[in-house]
Amino acid sequence: MEGITDGILRSVHREIFGGVDIYCLPFHKLTQNLSLTAREKRDIDPERNKGLNVLPQALTRDPEQLLAWLAYISRLGYDCGDLNLGCPSPTVTKRGRGSAMLQDPGFLVSFFDYVFSHRLPASLSVKTRIGYDTPEEWERILEILAEFPFDHVTIHIRTMKEQYTGAKHPEAFDTAVRKGISHPVFNGDLRTTEDVETLKARCPETEAVMIGRGLLADPALARRLRGGAEASDEELAAWYYALYDGWKQQFDPVLALGRIKKLMEWSGEGDIRRRRLLRRAKDIEGCVRAMLED
Ligand SMILES: Cc1cc2nc3c(=O)[nH]c(=O)nc-3n(C[C@H](O)[C@H](O)[C@H](O)COP(=O)(O)O)c2cc1C
Repeated sequence: MEGITDGILRSVHREIFGGVDIYCLPFHKLTQNLSLTAREKRDIDPERNKGLNVLPQALTRDPEQLLAWLAYISRLGYDCGDLNLGCPSPTVTKRGRGSAMLQDPGFLVSFFDYVFSHRLPASLSVKTRIGYDTPEEWERILEILAEFPFDHVTIHIRTMKEQYTGAKHPEAFDTAVRKGISHPVFNGDLRTTEDVETLKARCPETEAVMIGRGLLADPALARRLRGGAEASDEELAAWYYALYDGWKQQFDPVLALGRIKKLMEWSGEGDIRRRRLLRRAKDIEGCVRAMLED
């Protein structure tokens, strides 16, 4: 998740909680000469992702840029790269990227025709929403996605307009499974083990799920989905302190504390008292107390 997850968070997460098969990297905004930012380079550095299975992601509407980026990640040792067709941020969509690419089916076909007419240096997956304006667009988008040999297709069951909290359409995922899309991955609002059980009961063919906010709120969620234990207070404290220590080495301490508070807000969602305590906390000890004390 852009602005939140990085190599430190991924490594600490795997060490303390685990349960995740693949960690998805925040997108790289591609440019003509493929000049990644220092943060993007750091994030994809294999040294910083040692022992982790990670999936890099690109944001571009230029097929040549995508091909060059696939060659780049392949040189770094990655065998699959993901294209973002879902980001709804206006700074992204106004340049025709992310979910804006779903607006023009003709463009999508020519984009992927061009990309797949090449021998790809690494396999390609996509992360998509089910439309730009309305869920009715999904049928055409699905037809297009079904034509190409993607490694997998992650489906956030909302349109661009529905952003992150609007109406959702889980049945759109079932349609993708029925249409034989290659390896569909369900994404959207999986916050508890019950949410995943409900999904599997409705769509038993579900092979994989992608979890964003639910894993920030409950870092043990993936482990629990495999029958493992809930997060203990000791583990949560170790998680927060290890993240703070890692971020303090990378940023200045004020920024590191801001980042930890941002992460904690995902867990304290809806708990006004905790959020108030968190806002007032002046150091990492105060933050951890705000999160863990009754
Ligand atoms: C702060 C934030 C940053 C995100 N960054 C990315 C990103 O870089 N790439 C991406 O594919 N999705 C990104 N997403 C979308 C999530 O991956 C996910 O599709 C969405 O939050 C719905 O899933 P969830 O309900 O499990 O969080 C981001 C979401 C949030 C809230």
